Amino acid sequence: MGASRRTTGPWAVKDHKRLIKDTETGAEEGGLKRAVGALDLTALGIGAVIGTGIFVIIGEGIGLAGPAVILSFILAAVTCVFSALCYAELASSIPVSGSAYTYAYATLGELVAWIIGWDLILEYGVSVAAVAVGWGGNLNEFLENTFSFSLPDSIATSPSDGGVFNLPAVFIVLAVMFVLSRGVRETAKANLIMVGIKLLILAFFIIVAFSTAFSSDNLTPFAPHGTDGVVSAAAVIFFAYIGFDAVSTGAEEAKEPKRDLPLAIIGSLIICTIIYILVSVAAVGSLDAKSLQESDAPLAAVLDDGAGISWAASLLAFGALVAITSVMLTIFYGQTRIFFAMARDGLMPRGIAKVNPRTGTPVALTYGMGVAIAILAALVPLTEIVKLVNIGTLFAFLLVNVGVVVLRATKPEMERPFKVPLAWPVPIFPLIGVGLIIYLMTKLPGETWIRFVGWMAIGLAIYFFYGRSHSLLQRHGERES
Ligand code: ALA
Repeated sequence: MGASRRTTGPWAVKDHKRLIKDTETGAEEGGLKRAVGALDLTALGIGAVIGTGIFVIIGEGIGLAGPAVILSFILAAVTCVFSALCYAELASSIPVSGSAYTYAYATLGELVAWIIGWDLILEYGVSVAAVAVGWGGNLNEFLENTFSFSLPDSIATSPSDGGVFNLPAVFIVLAVMFVLSRGVRETAKANLIMVGIKLLILAFFIIVAFSTAFSSDNLTPFAPHGTDGVVSAAAVIFFAYIGFDAVSTGAEEAKEPKRDLPLAIIGSLIICTIIYILVSVAAVGSLDAKSLQESDAPLAAVLDDGAGISWAASLLAFGALVAITSVMLTIFYGQTRIFFAMARDGLMPRGIAKVNPRTGTPVALTYGMGVAIAILAALVPLTEIVKLVNIGTLFAFLLVNVGVVVLRATKPEMERPFKVPLAWPVPIFPLIGVGLIIYLMTKLPGETWIRFVGWMAIGLAIYFFYGRSHSLLQRHGERES
């Protein structure tokens, strides 16, 4: 390797050893606390993954693919596996806050890092708002099922759905913000309990559906819209898997990041895939596809209309509320840590990265984000945003696959506690990963692409007007040791 690295201009690369050192210095100066173990990290993954996708979006998937949505779940999972392996390699080698943003900084340069960081706002910040809207919808479902009462539309939906603003969505965003600002130990504990509840609820769903309502008649016709329907549904259902990568955003708070991060990333994806396959088989086998597709709460509909047990449907709606809360908690947590890393590098105002010495969390940043997300959640509807979140996440995954290969070429000597198999010298796995990602991206509608390109253009403008001149790397530069 050459003695010096490019340290100015948009392609400036941050040395990974320096990245790790920055974290250690940060810890001495009152940085994030190392308080989280393997079980907490896996729960963080499951907490971020199982939510709106399986409880709500499955209905849209069934509309596109019919009962063959089971295959869509498998295709989306396979697409994620290659990226999960890449995240595991990068997270174990560069265990620093900021996830894909940080890895890009060490591999593809500052401009690409900024692009990913900006893109991750779609996967994290924007999706928290969308998921909060899903929470509000489920709250009404629960109230209606249990107490025959529901909130009026004016304070329960966004303006484009005929309301004024979405009060339940604002409420849950602010509640989650409050829990997060109290500290990561409290967050991990609250998350562990919620993950336990959602696993029990889904186990309950699977048992009740299979033992009371399952009939193979519901499975025909299996794939009414053929392969195209299955793949289009996978591009939407992909939303259900988003979040396993959130494990890597907590790297600086992990006690043993090199061992635990790969375990938790891959482990949570495997566990969620198994659950999704079982739940989707139980759902499409227990109620006809048309009813599932038309319901706002398809799994509750299976228990209510398919099995005919309305108290079970109430319980499930309650479980959905808890599940979605844990998604919000973990994804919101991830977003604050990505912003934290971007601010520490000077690409965002540095003042927002300040950690409160008492709680060990970036309190001002958490409140600022909470208010912004609450405003978004008050005013936007769920449906289209899900696709925007998906395209943003698929793009981040694509860059992570590329990043692994670039890093193998540019830093072969780097310590890699976990390695993607079949990635070097011929990058077979990353190539398959990228191919599947592009395949799913092409199945998303044209408007989604236009919104995505618009969002990224705004990000580029911010980089060239603000980030480039404030970047610490550009100002101080560095030499490879
Ligand atoms: N995977 C997360 C969910 O389905 C975002 O809610």
